[in-house]
Amino acid sequence: MSGRVLVTGGAGFIGSHIAEAYLKEGWDVVVLDDLSRGHERNIPKAARFVRADIRSPEARELLATGRFDALNHHAAQIDVRVSVDQPALDAGINVVGLVNLLDGAGAGGVKRVIFASSGGVVYGDPDVIPTPETAPKLPVSPYGVSKLAGEYYLRAIRALRGFEGVAMRYANVFGPRQDPKSEAGVVSIFVSRLLEGQPLVVFGDGRQTRDYVFVRDVARANVLATTVKLPDGGEFDAPAFNIATSIERNVLELAESVGQVLGRKPELEFAPPRAGELFRSALDIGKAKRVLGWTPEWKFEDGLKPLVEWFQKEAR
Ligand SMILES: NC(=O)c1ccc[n+]([C@@H]2O[C@H](COP(=O)([O-])OP(=O)(O)OC[C@H]3O[C@@H](n4cnc5c(N)ncnc54)[C@H](O)[C@@H]3O)[C@@H](O)[C@H]2O)c1
Repeated sequence: MSGRVLVTGGAGFIGSHIAEAYLKEGWDVVVLDDLSRGHERNIPKAARFVRADIRSPEARELLATGRFDALNHHAAQIDVRVSVDQPALDAGINVVGLVNLLDGAGAGGVKRVIFASSGGVVYGDPDVIPTPETAPKLPVSPYGVSKLAGEYYLRAIRALRGFEGVAMRYANVFGPRQDPKSEAGVVSIFVSRLLEGQPLVVFGDGRQTRDYVFVRDVARANVLATTVKLPDGGEFDAPAFNIATSIERNVLELAESVGQVLGRKPELEFAPPRAGELFRSALDIGKAKRVLGWTPEWKFEDGLKPLVEWFQKEAR
């Protein structure tokens, strides 16, 4: 099944892969992005591009009049540290911007909204690892609160306006087009530093773990989530899916894998641990497997190869 979809944030890292995945499945794709972080070169040629801020009347109007079947919302303020320094800016983009789009989607008869949430932050510091969707939601940072608030707004407005909503709770996504300057992009940071012959900076003892999922697997999960029959029931977590691998990998292992793929021995530079950083993180993906029929297909080392190629050819 295909139709017409608006991908916000489609000039950015994950959104541009999602736009490509929809096009491959025969969808008519429009990308909305303000290019505050994304780049026009990331947008697939076959997609139409509208440059606008998600908080603007134009963005609401596009959804209200654009005859979209689906809204896939990936535009956001993504930096935890920015949310700590400027919580009102973060909430303005991630909460008010989302609400503006949901209002437009309701007016325009959009059937389903897919929202990029974050499994790395909405659970806070969870007791159970890999963490299931039903775990307590106790975000620590303003960014985590804005993502969780987004899920609540999606739940409320979809009930009022009669569309369906899905929350995609990602682990650490990696792959081509991830900005090495972004805080979330430790894999990109390591690859770019190693290519430049610089040491890799490890905070703390390097034994902290994360769950790394390849961006093309994430894009495929989004296309599936756009058409799958959603679970019945009014529980908060019913339309939420962890998108991850459930595999924990620590920073030292990460550095070693990057070194192996690049054929260079990484030099490590240890720095004090960062305040507030989680020690372990991995997400349970049983539900995405069961309901979406999705399972990650890219092994971590296999995903590093296209990332390295992108750095060598295209990253500027
Ligand atoms: N990268 C990860 O590991 C990860 C993990 C969990 C959740 N997410 C979420 O996935 C989504 C995409 O993240 P990404 O890593 O691709 O980031 P990104 O910065 O590459 O993409 C975000 C895009 O949104 C655009 N944008 C920002 N503010 C905007 C605004 N006000 N109006 C219009 N466009 C705006 C930017 O220009 C950029 O192109 C975000 O919602 C993020 O919170 C990402």
